[in-house]
This record gives sequence, structure tokens and C-alpha cells, in this order.
Amino acid sequence: MTKISSVTSVSNQENVVILADKKSNFKDAGFSKQELAYVKDCITKKEQKMVTINQYKRAVHIAVIKEGKTEELTSEVCRRAGCDMLAVLNSDKLDRITVRSALKNKIHLLAFAEGLALGNYQFLRYKTDKKKLAASLKSIRVHSRDVSSKDIARLNASLQGSLYARTLVNEPLWFLTATQLSKEIQKMGKESGFKVQVFNKSKIQSLKMGGLLAVNKGSLDPPTFTIMEWKPKGFRNKKPYVLVGKGVVFDTGGLSLKPTPKSMEFMKCDMGGAAAVAGTMYAIAKAKLKVHVIGLVPATDNRPSGNAYVPGDVITMHDGTYVEVLNTDAEGRLILADALSYAKRFKPELVIDLATLTGSSIAAIGTIGMVSMHEGAEKQHEKLQESGHNVHERLAELPFWEEYGEMIKSEIADIKNLGGPYGGSITAGKFLHHFTDYPWIHLDIAGPAFLDSRDSYRGIGGTGVGVRLLFDFFVNKV
Ligand code: BES
Ligand code: MG
Ligand code: ZN
Repeated sequence: MTKISSVTSVSNQENVVILADKKSNFKDAGFSKQELAYVKDCITKKEQKMVTINQYKRAVHIAVIKEGKTEELTSEVCRRAGCDMLAVLNSDKLDRITVRSALKNKIHLLAFAEGLALGNYQFLRYKTDKKKLAASLKSIRVHSRDVSSKDIARLNASLQGSLYARTLVNEPLWFLTATQLSKEIQKMGKESGFKVQVFNKSKIQSLKMGGLLAVNKGSLDPPTFTIMEWKPKGFRNKKPYVLVGKGVVFDTGGLSLKPTPKSMEFMKCDMGGAAAVAGTMYAIAKAKLKVHVIGLVPATDNRPSGNAYVPGDVITMHDGTYVEVLNTDAEGRLILADALSYAKRFKPELVIDLATLTGSSIAAIGTIGMVSMHEGAEKQHEKLQESGHNVHERLAELPFWEEYGEMIKSEIADIKNLGGPYGGSITAGKFLHHFTDYPWIHLDIAGPAFLDSRDSYRGIGGTGVGVRLLFDFFVNKV
């Protein structure tokens, strides 16, 4: 991971990046007259986004930021500019860089550093030539009077949480079974300070988690149910926040088998919600945020086999609800439902679930953002939307009208796991809603959790989406 730190002075031998805009005068950059004239010319006349001055012992790079429509959108311009700058720094084989800013707002400098660090992430476990392929950049030093050590600690925490989440998503099934996922979460708990408890199959059986057990029936590997808790001294909230993450470590679709191209081949990403929850727990514990948060991750793979659950089956859920299974590929809602019922015992202030739940959410808005639904959590949802803008992981709210609830009524059981031909994300949401009795927000992250082509600092493969979002949400609670 690229480490971010703060410094109070910079020698004239340090490689530096200066964030600037067209109006910047570079007074304290220490440029000679000629250099200054050259820089000004590149920025104003040639409209360059990047300018480099090669001095005797170092290079000074200027990243020219074009203001966005809002302050938050300017932050996103900065993250992307940070990622663009990486190509230059890594090809120069720098192992550290100092960043400073000629812009007023410190959040833009922090966003630039964040873009550098997120963009610099690599998943090299399965490359033989790791050393050769590894990016040279190892540390980023932020030079600013306005940035506090708390800002830096929080940035590192959310960064590390996000990158852990990415790696969990990038790990294939041969390694990341449900049991291994629980072990990885335990490691993350040890490293950051949150508590972890793992329920094994017999405990899950005794809790009658019929959704999780049904999905697991076709698998040779046992399911797990992982409970995380961060409860620091002096926490501010009376009732806990509960985060629930879908932990389908691989989704073949089960007997309702998926086709391979552009579908099943990406399904190691189906624990993206679980990764986001674990990454968030890691970040808030690392940053020692004074909030009481519980994380729940039901986990299994979804496979066909001689004993797999079948379309037409009726299963009994943790809360006693009878569910008719019409499609074994609609498995996420079954395992989440048990976790959502389990969450009732905590009398939560708010429950947020994150899940790579439906292809129809991707059909609706693509991979840029996530779709959201909520019940009894109007204000909290607004706050979460604000965080979405702050970190550029935005929520697109879908209607959640009663009529959609009618579509999951079953002829022979209480409800069925399949809605009509349209509005699939919403009927999936309505299915989950059946198992809640508290303020609740549902985030369908099927689109942004995993990218099959690179997108700037979001990278390729697992994006860690959800971690920066929830971290920002909780930072605003303390
Ligand atoms: N894991 C998938 C959803 C998904 C699709 C995630 C694409 C990431 C990328 C989920 O379990 C699923 O299969 N959903 C079905 C539900 C349908 C059978 C009602 C879908 O969306 O097609
Ligand atoms: Mg599925
Ligand atoms: Zn799935």
C-alpha cells in the first residue's frame, strides 16, 4: 500500500507535485523567471493539464486542475489528476513524492493524494514477476499547513480499508472460500482492533438460517456467518449501526446456471458487499471513530450439484418466513434476508446492506454509481447521498412503491425470490424489506463493485466501492 504522511517543510531536492489552476502565480514555488514564464505559457496558452520542470536534482510537476461544477466534483477532478500523474512518477521510478497545493481548499489536495494512492494499487499475487511489475512509488508526503495529522490518519484508514476490500474481491474462489473470507476478516479485525466472531455450519443450522443453508446446499464448502463489532470507549450513538454485506464467494447461479461469457466469469466479485463491510469496519477501527458499528457477513458459494436447492423448492428462513425459490440465481437476497432478520436483535439505529444483488441495477445506471432504496430512513439516506457526492460513490435512488411488494407474493408460500420481468432491483429490495423492522438502507453495488476495464483510480477488477462512502458517513457522525 502507498503510505501517506504529512511534512512541514520540503528541501529543494525533493520531487514535488504542485496542484494549481490557471490563476495560480507560483509565488513560493521557487521557480526562476524563465521557469515561471515557461510554466505560465504551458498552462494558459497551451492549456496543458500537466507541466514538468526538470531541475538539477529533482523534477517539479504541476497538475492543472479545472474546477468542476461543485466543490465535490472538483475533488473528483483532483483524484483523477492524481491517478494521471502516477504514470509520470512511476516511469521516473520515484519511490516517494511530495504533494502541495496552490489551491485554497485542503480537501482538493487530499483528494489528489487519494487518487495517487488508490490508482497505485496493484494485485500482483498471481504474477511471477512481482518485483519487475511493482510500481516504484511507495510513499506520498503531503506538504500543507492546513492538513492535520487527523486528516492524514483518516485518509490512510479509508485508503487501507478500500484496498483490502479490493484484494478480497480480486481473490478467486480457489483461495477465498466462505471459510477463508471469515479468516481474512479475522485478520483485518486483529490488525485494526474490531472484534470478530465466526459462526460455523452447525451454529448456522441451530439458528435455522434457512436462506444461507439452502444456497449452500449445492456446495462442498461450508457456509460461514461472520459478526464484526467496533465499540470504542465514548462512542456517540445510543443504538448501534449495523452493516450487512452479501458474501457470495462465487455465484454460478446454481441449477439456474449462468452463462460463462461476461457473466459467470466475473462472479468472484459477488462478495463485494462483504468486502465493503469488512473494509469499512477496518477503516473506522483504524481511525478510532467513536461510533458503535456491527458488521454481518453471511457467506457461501452458490453451485449446482446432486444436492443443490432447486427451482420450486420452499425454504424456511431464520425468521420463519416461507420462501418459494423460483430461481436459484436469485441467491443473494436469500442469504441477506437471514442476516437482516438476525440484525433485529441489535435494535439498530440504522441498518445498511451492501450487495452485488441484481444485473438489473447495472441495466438501470451502469457501473458509475449504485442504486439505493430505503424505508424509515429518509434523513439518513440524505446524509448518505451527501457522502456519496463527497467521495464520488453516488447513490441513485429508485422508487420503492408498495405495488412492487405485490410482485413477490407467492401462490404456495409467503413470498417468492423472483419478481416480474421488470424492475428487478426494486423487487429484490422489496424481498429484503420483508425481513427488516428498523430504519434501513439498501445499496445494490452490482455495477460499481467490479470493473472489467480500467477506470482511472478506481482501477480494474475489485474497486472497494462502499468503503470510502460509509467511512465518510461515519466520520460525519462523530
Ligand atoms: N450476483 C448476481 C448479480 C450480479 C450481476 C452481480 C452482475 C454482479 C454483476 C445475482 O445473484 C443474480 O444472479 N441476480 C439475478 C437475479 C435474477 C435471477 C432475479 C440477476 O440479476 O440476473
Ligand atoms: Mg445469482
Ligand atoms: Zn449473486
